Amino acid sequence: MSQVLRQHAEQQFAEELEALRKVDDRPRPPNWKLSPWAVLQYLMGGKLDNGFEVTPKYIGNPRLMEIAVSTLATDRALLLYGVPGTAKSWVSEHLSAAVSGDSTMLVQGTAGTSEEQLRYGWNYAQLLAHGPSEQALIPSPLVHAMKLGKIARIEELTRIPADVQDTLITVLSEKTLPVPELGTEVQAVQGFSVIATANNRDKGVNELSSALKRRFNTVVLPVPASQDEEVQIVTKRVAEQGRALALPAEPPALQEVRRVVQIFRELRNGQTEDGKSVRVKSPSSTLSTAEAISVINSGMALAGHFGDGVLRAGDVASGLLGAVIKDPVQDTVVWKEYLETVVKERSDWKDLYRACREQL
Ligand SMILES: Nc1ncnc2c1ncn2[C@@H]1O[C@H](COP(=O)(O)OP(=O)(O)O)[C@@H](O)[C@H]1O
Ligand SMILES: [Mg+2]
Repeated sequence: MSQVLRQHAEQQFAEELEALRKVDDRPRPPNWKLSPWAVLQYLMGGKLDNGFEVTPKYIGNPRLMEIAVSTLATDRALLLYGVPGTAKSWVSEHLSAAVSGDSTMLVQGTAGTSEEQLRYGWNYAQLLAHGPSEQALIPSPLVHAMKLGKIARIEELTRIPADVQDTLITVLSEKTLPVPELGTEVQAVQGFSVIATANNRDKGVNELSSALKRRFNTVVLPVPASQDEEVQIVTKRVAEQGRALALPAEPPALQEVRRVVQIFRELRNGQTEDGKSVRVKSPSSTLSTAEAISVINSGMALAGHFGDGVLRAGDVASGLLGAVIKDPVQDTVVWKEYLETVVKERSDWKDLYRACREQL
């Protein structure tokens, strides 16, 4: 039997969710699969009293996750906000999986998202044959979530045109969606809420109207605070994805992950992290943790399929180049300057310097 490429969180971590459900004797908000306490355990990981090990999903400040979880237990919706690659979508999926047992009621926001995609559309054959009826109505994932009392996810909310975004106001404030064509409405069942994600780096973002903003509690997900934390995130996700893709490479040496993360952090923050704090220029690219994960992952694919299975400088160099240089003119200048003034000077980075120079 062939496996799906990527399981939903509630499938992949079914065992953990079940173990948590068994020990969870705290009060649950109506229609929640777990108590807020257990949802937090699921997100942050840890050992249960019976010895069962829950893996951490979010690595970072637990307080942020506490605020996120408790927001969902109120009548306010949750907005996860931050630069790309800070685990907004990731947290949104795991929160929905833990709270509702279902992370699939998802609307992907784009510049082309229409009101129908947020509310409901019509099956035109039915509509023409029988006129407007329940049967002719095609509910959106949002409407499904309202009816089932589960969490709806809206990805990249600020990419949706402002007038379409405002469709959400009635849903979030009145917890109902009128269907004027049928003279009815869909009333949200207890347990319904919305988790939206938005990033502040997109071109063409549509600011949330203040009416809509008021309906959301915003939690800003930061880039990892320290190099150690970021190395931990990358190592963990690379191991998980390497396993899923069955890459024939050894887990990367910590030192190689550390170097990639350090380069990302130095370019992102505009200064070196080796104590001297030399100023460097930042490229136009985001250089998020998510991209560091991809650089190591593609390096491992190279090493596994075309090398000796050990991730080396040559395997990460091309990925680095691709991640750093998004604007072929300006970013190339920045990258070259960084190579010559920082990478070249580090005595144990000679292999990486050579490999990166060869790519240019
Ligand atoms: N603090 C973190 N804890 C755990 N994983 C993280 C963290 N930051 C980034 N990641 C990883 O980065 C990847 C991309 O995250 P994603 O949710 O797609 O970013 P966003 O939606 O914010 O752009 C995910 O695989 C996630 O595991
Ligand atoms: Mg995202």
